[in-house]
Amino acid sequence: MSNDATAAPTTATAGRTFPEGFWWGSATAAYQIEGAATEGARGPSIWDTFSHTPGRTLNGDTGDVADDHFHRWQEDVGHIEDLGLDAYRFSISWPRVQPGGSGAFDEEGIAFYSRLVDALVEAGVRPVATLYHWDLPQELEDAGGWANRATAHAFAEYARRMARELGDRIDVWTTLNEPWCSAYLGYASGVHAPGRTEPAAALAAVHHLNLAHGLACRAVREELGASARLSVTLNLHVVRPDDPSSDDDVDAVRQIDALANRAFLGPMLDGAYPDDLLADTADVSDWSFVREGDLEIARQPLDVLGINYYSTAKVRRFTGDGQRQENDGHGASASSPWVGAADVEFVQQPGPYTAMGWNIEPAGMTELLCSVAAAYPDQPLMVTENGAAFDDEVSDDGRVHDPRRVAYLNDHIEAVGAAVDAGADVRGYFAWSLLDNFEWGYGYGRRFGIIRVDYETQARTWKDSAYWYRELVRTGSLPPITRGE
Ligand code: FCB
Repeated sequence: MSNDATAAPTTATAGRTFPEGFWWGSATAAYQIEGAATEGARGPSIWDTFSHTPGRTLNGDTGDVADDHFHRWQEDVGHIEDLGLDAYRFSISWPRVQPGGSGAFDEEGIAFYSRLVDALVEAGVRPVATLYHWDLPQELEDAGGWANRATAHAFAEYARRMARELGDRIDVWTTLNEPWCSAYLGYASGVHAPGRTEPAAALAAVHHLNLAHGLACRAVREELGASARLSVTLNLHVVRPDDPSSDDDVDAVRQIDALANRAFLGPMLDGAYPDDLLADTADVSDWSFVREGDLEIARQPLDVLGINYYSTAKVRRFTGDGQRQENDGHGASASSPWVGAADVEFVQQPGPYTAMGWNIEPAGMTELLCSVAAAYPDQPLMVTENGAAFDDEVSDDGRVHDPRRVAYLNDHIEAVGAAVDAGADVRGYFAWSLLDNFEWGYGYGRRFGIIRVDYETQARTWKDSAYWYRELVRTGSLPPITRGE
């Protein structure tokens, strides 16, 4: 694969075909696209507070307006339909449907999602609803946030009500999106809302998110019975040792794997926290917030396990000489998200990189899917996010030529196909993202969409990647791509 800007364009005809019934989708999240932050009864979320706090986001960007999807949802469903997507993954804004996160629900807020879901079904698109994509009602944060056990119970009640309201029309319920980010970036490094830098609180958040997941699964099943299809989306980390022959570096991988992956897979799929995780973090917390019965609740049968994959990481034992590197791709902070792993250093990965600075390594996708499939052979999997930010420009011809995004998507979908060939039970793939949107701490400074959004006019323009993806969805087979631009 050539990423050399000077290389002559070459046309590759990959042509890989995917199984009948494989879902092709695209994903978004409420706070990143909706805007209408104070419309109706919507209450503030931790991301409203965080983004309005000076210095927290690039250029002080907020989700106040974002893609104005709240008002333009019909047009956006039209794009989804024109793309021919089998499924659309969106998230419900908790503070829009239940301002404050407890007590009364707002009928108008719920009606927004009800209309959206109806329109998707009408267009022949399967709705995949995420209940929590990071926008915790601020009032719940004021009471302790995810470090507070009561938040998990509040979440289950919210999930129950959504199941009751929308359940007959939602194909897959996803409880949480990337609880790793909610816990460690929100409460340890503080680069995400609520911006706290309290390592012990981050571990409590890990547990309460696992508990919330289990309680919400139970609540949705109680409402909908056996027809409910449940999932969670994890951003599992592909971590490699700097020197594979070094026991220290291999042990550093084990530490990060425990914090990033097994801290969630353990409770949710095996009903237990890994012993090494508890031992590694013993100086930070005694984990006394884990109560009897919690792990039984956290472990719920999942119809599908969602996996988000973007990049890989390389670690080594930090010897204490010089400055410790933290090139983990999760944003610069004085505090580390890697609670209890101060002796682990993240090594800069070789390029090429996306505009996020994340290294591009499609083989990591195959490796990740195969390793999860090997550990949990009976668990169906779905790639619920994958994509890339690049500094797209509108050309003189009015189009957005994004060959690097097309190549990124092509190569990662090819890598998903390789995992399927190797026996991984992968049921679908969702491109992140349908639209350029509010990229959290990076604000509008990073564009992940296959559709461009002009934030001045809110005009949507299909990038070349959108046309390419439409062809893939139509044929079920990878269309030819041109490389080297
Ligand atoms: C994931 C998030 C998603 C988006 C992508 C780029 O971590 O789930 O909202 O920001 O990264």
